[in-house]
Amino acid sequence: MGSYDAAYRLAASDPEYFWLSAARGISWNVFPTQALDSSNAPLYRWFPDGELNTCYNAVDRHVLAGHGDRSAIIYDSPVSDSKRIVTYAQLLDQVSRFAGVLAGLGVTRGDRVVIYMPMIPEAIVAMLATARLGAVHSVVFGGFASAELAARIDDAAPKVIVSASCGIEPSRTIPYKPLIDEACRLSSHKPAATVIFQRPEVTVELGQADYDWTTLMQTATAHDCVPVSATDPLYILYTSGTTGKPKGVVRDNGGHAVSMAWSLGNVYDIGPGDVFWAASDVGWVVGHSYIVYAPLISGATTVMYEGKPVGTPDAGAFWRVIQDYKVNALFCAPTAIRAIKREDPDAKLLAQYDISSLRTLFQAGERLDPDTYHWATDHLQVPVVDNWWQTETGWPIASNLRGLEPMPIKAGSPSVSVPGYNIQVVDAEGNQVPAGVEGSIVIKLPMPPGTLPTLWGDDQRYIDSYLTTFDGYYTTGDGGLIDEDGYVYVLGRNDDVINVAGHRLSTGSMEAIVASHPLVAECAVIGVQDQLKGQIPRAFVVLKFGADIDPAVLEKEIVKSIRDEIGAVAALKEVVIVPGLPKTRSGKILRRTMRGIADGRPEPVPSTIEDIRVLDDIAPLLKGKQDS
Ligand code: COA
Ligand code: AMP
Repeated sequence: MGSYDAAYRLAASDPEYFWLSAARGISWNVFPTQALDSSNAPLYRWFPDGELNTCYNAVDRHVLAGHGDRSAIIYDSPVSDSKRIVTYAQLLDQVSRFAGVLAGLGVTRGDRVVIYMPMIPEAIVAMLATARLGAVHSVVFGGFASAELAARIDDAAPKVIVSASCGIEPSRTIPYKPLIDEACRLSSHKPAATVIFQRPEVTVELGQADYDWTTLMQTATAHDCVPVSATDPLYILYTSGTTGKPKGVVRDNGGHAVSMAWSLGNVYDIGPGDVFWAASDVGWVVGHSYIVYAPLISGATTVMYEGKPVGTPDAGAFWRVIQDYKVNALFCAPTAIRAIKREDPDAKLLAQYDISSLRTLFQAGERLDPDTYHWATDHLQVPVVDNWWQTETGWPIASNLRGLEPMPIKAGSPSVSVPGYNIQVVDAEGNQVPAGVEGSIVIKLPMPPGTLPTLWGDDQRYIDSYLTTFDGYYTTGDGGLIDEDGYVYVLGRNDDVINVAGHRLSTGSMEAIVASHPLVAECAVIGVQDQLKGQIPRAFVVLKFGADIDPAVLEKEIVKSIRDEIGAVAALKEVVIVPGLPKTRSGKILRRTMRGIADGRPEPVPSTIEDIRVLDDIAPLLKGKQDS
């Protein structure tokens, strides 16, 4: 039996032993005597009597062990033309003083802190300082507009917001303060204070409840780590669901720290002193887990890159970073590789750099299409390893476990179930389907440590959204199959969640905005295939009777309201006027059928369709302007 089989079987047959052993990979104030607590099933908790501090694990313990001079963060920002290295000792100094700042503003254990920041080291400092106090951070991606920020402020009810004066996109600088002010105007909850890190590109005038990061830090006193229960929340990360209201995924302290340490070594084959680069954003789960917590808890060096894979300055940017910092593993979304491939199809720029330090390219966030897989494998000459997971799980569900036991790679598959997860594919009735047959991908409960224990303040929504469709299973929302070798194939979402350039978005929230246009009678937003971004949203609208508007003007107005309310990241660019929408007799819009036609793989038309002629009428329009 290989190491993978042994670990998989042990995690399944004796989870107590397996996870208490894994728990020795981190430092505890009180080591847990119990791994799994099933007393409130289906709400499971891990390490119920353990106590620890996550920031201590990510920072202090490495300095105490004599590694203060090791690089913790390598910051490289072509968009602001700056570079910086932060050692573990420097990180400890900054984090403990910023924890003092937050404590001075009244933040204590259990309080929430919203962090709305660009990709700068201060974002990591703010996260760790919050964790140091036993408080709970909620990082909001900088590409979201005020209304999205307001929804999160209302749900998380933070005492303090931490932000910067601006974010920087290659094409423009985005001042954050007006966005925060507008969000606080829209929200019912009003945070007591906002701390702003001033970047040279934009200087903000501070209001009455605003504080300047640098000024506060000059007089701050260091604050020590506050031990918390393993089951205390570390963070809330909002993610898109089927409805417009984002879901506040909760991450605990103990299970999370254990899963971060375990996965970085066993899945990503990265240990202390290695250089790991997750080219994501701290606003997404990949950023939380693999820019911040896993590398730092493991004593590795994390690369924080503020920029795009192309255009800053060119499609060689990623190879330059790998060369300059001797990166051992790169983790990015397939979109990033597709963007590079589009600009530099023969990888001529790659030849200019020495990327011999690179051991593996990890891909996640969206489906890794075989073309991209082969291009990357051929040119980088390292294993290209797909891994599948979600905000909810916080770490890979399926992967090729490079540190535990590398296995053959099959293009199009993120390989096998990670130990601790029991993945199954079921039909509509919840019966397991044979190997090779497509169905809904579910995970048998309980899921391993680090996965979400609940949604913030809403156990019932957690149960209703994930645990009720198939009794005893967590519904991933993804469809796919498992082949005869146990390799999982994730083929796409079964719900209205779409993945645009690796960014998870809800078509439901876009529909709500499109529907509010005064001339729109009804609408559907669906995700259609896109060669670069994997998927992009396309809106189909039926106008109110007698409405008279130039389609180009309508499109401009709707695109603007999506950008204003969700953010540019929604990337909705196309609005198509249609005479009607295909529906079932009970009035449900046939989005899946529409998606199939738009992508050129027509689905069987359901027998419950209300009026087949509507489908015939709109079929040519579904292809969109560019494709038709
Ligand atoms: N703050 C403000 N605006 C942001 C933003 C941020 N943090 N991130 C993205 N945006 C804006 C962009 O400027 C763009 O605006 P525009 O429509 O005015 O040009 C829009 O949101 C869409 O952004 P993006 O999806 O990033 O597209 P792009 O055309 O700017 O870049 C790629 C295309 C492929 C280079 C880019 O999507 C990419 O690097 N993708 C990798 C994705 C990734 O790492 N995902 C993380 C999940 S693992
Ligand atoms: P997020 O919560 O933003 O990480 O998005 C999670 C969703 O992205 C999953 O439910 C999948 O639909 C998709 N996804 C993530 N990784 C992969 C992958 N490796 N292959 C296919 N789909 C993926």
